[in-house]
Amino acid sequence: MKIKISSITVSEDRMRTVEKNDKYYKLKASIERFGIIQSIGVQDGPRNTYILIFGERRLTACKELGMEKISCRILIPNRPLDAMLIEYEENQHRENFTWQEEAVALRRMYDAVLEENPGYTHKEFSSLTNVGESRLSALFRLLDFSDQYPQIWIMIHWSKADLELTRMIKGSLLEEKLKRSQAKKSLDAAMVGISIKPKGHHENCPCSKCRNHRDSIRKQVKPTGDILIYPEAMELLASLDDKSVDLCVTDPPFGIDIEDSRSMEARHHIYDNDDDKVSIMNLMERVIIGLKGKMKPGAHVYMFFAIQYYNDLTQVLLREGFTINKVPLLWVKNGGGSTAQPSYFPGNVYEPVLMAFAPGKRRKLEVLGLNNVIRCDSVHPSKKNHPLEKSINLYNEIIRRSACKGDLFIDPFSGVGNSLVAAKRLGCNVRGAEKVERYRSIGELKLMGG
Ligand SMILES: C[S@@+](CC[C@H](N)C(=O)[O-])C[C@H]1O[C@@H](n2cnc3c(N)ncnc32)[C@H](O)[C@@H]1O
Repeated sequence: MKIKISSITVSEDRMRTVEKNDKYYKLKASIERFGIIQSIGVQDGPRNTYILIFGERRLTACKELGMEKISCRILIPNRPLDAMLIEYEENQHRENFTWQEEAVALRRMYDAVLEENPGYTHKEFSSLTNVGESRLSALFRLLDFSDQYPQIWIMIHWSKADLELTRMIKGSLLEEKLKRSQAKKSLDAAMVGISIKPKGHHENCPCSKCRNHRDSIRKQVKPTGDILIYPEAMELLASLDDKSVDLCVTDPPFGIDIEDSRSMEARHHIYDNDDDKVSIMNLMERVIIGLKGKMKPGAHVYMFFAIQYYNDLTQVLLREGFTINKVPLLWVKNGGGSTAQPSYFPGNVYEPVLMAFAPGKRRKLEVLGLNNVIRCDSVHPSKKNHPLEKSINLYNEIIRRSACKGDLFIDPFSGVGNSLVAAKRLGCNVRGAEKVERYRSIGELKLMGG
């Protein structure tokens, strides 16, 4: 809300002289040109006045520019989020406030903001806290990887730590590539002396004799020591050989960041939020471009999707040369279905699944005669390890249509790993990606158990 500048006081003990340096004049010029973009924080003072909590530089600039009003966020210090904001603001002025402490504080605050308003974007959060967007993302990234790379977490400068993190991730990708090429070499070695096709059949012959023969060759060399579930979809794709993937079935994070918001309500909020749609489509665009390079020609892709993404998704897929089965599959859930606002919307009992084919001659289905409706229970809420968990049965119903033994199956958003388990049970080699460590570990455990 906008408040009269003359009614805002800066208490003596908080007051620090605003340093009129280059940055200050840039800020002032920007306010003059575009108005104030980031609110300042105030709390109620005596007799219709307000006491400044943060944003003194912005307030000074507005005063100097002769502005009458300024947009403010009125904080109530004992409300959890506001208390955190105030604490953060105060900490920021501490000389020894480290970037690690800052990252943890920002994450706590962001979680609290999302509790109150699940649709809150990084962008909005960056203007609420006055932390630049790229710095914010870097701090969050460093925090996310702090367990995996503890040596980076203790570095003094966050920007150097971020550079080092990028280098380490690239390094681990290279190492992974190396491992894969060694595995490939051992496959080649194992195949020496084995006839690739039975006599009288051609190399890609689809008859069952040839398929069994190819399976038995594949089985002779099992990939060893490979990572099965990567922490990032793009990392998974980068690790794969070009044109090596036979099948991809995935349930992307449309409109919901699982870690940040768990409820149906959250999803409804985010669906309305264009900023999030942009970042989700950015991710999907990168994943689809990645898939294009890694899928075998004509290989199948099944993708759960939210209806409001249909146009954007199909546009990107078509642009990248995929063909699309115009009529999506429907997963019809047994049971009543739920909705965030039952007085306004009917219960949801279906989810659509897009079916696409990688560029090239379409591969045939493995099971013929099935229709495009899959009836299957959803996972009972009491048994869910993930708010959007889909059952192994459901994945099996989809995967069995397109997979055969020995296929390389991937799921770049594998959640708790049920797609991977279903594909593994059908005899596929599987690789997944899941950014939340807890879900990744559950997936890994399930895969170990078969
Ligand atoms: C809709 S959920 C999939 C849940 C899955 N169907 C299951 O049964 O567990 C999407 C998942 O993608 C993960 N995710 C989001 N962005 C990601 C990324 N860039 N790389 C890998 N996983 C990501 C989320 O953490 C979330 O668990």
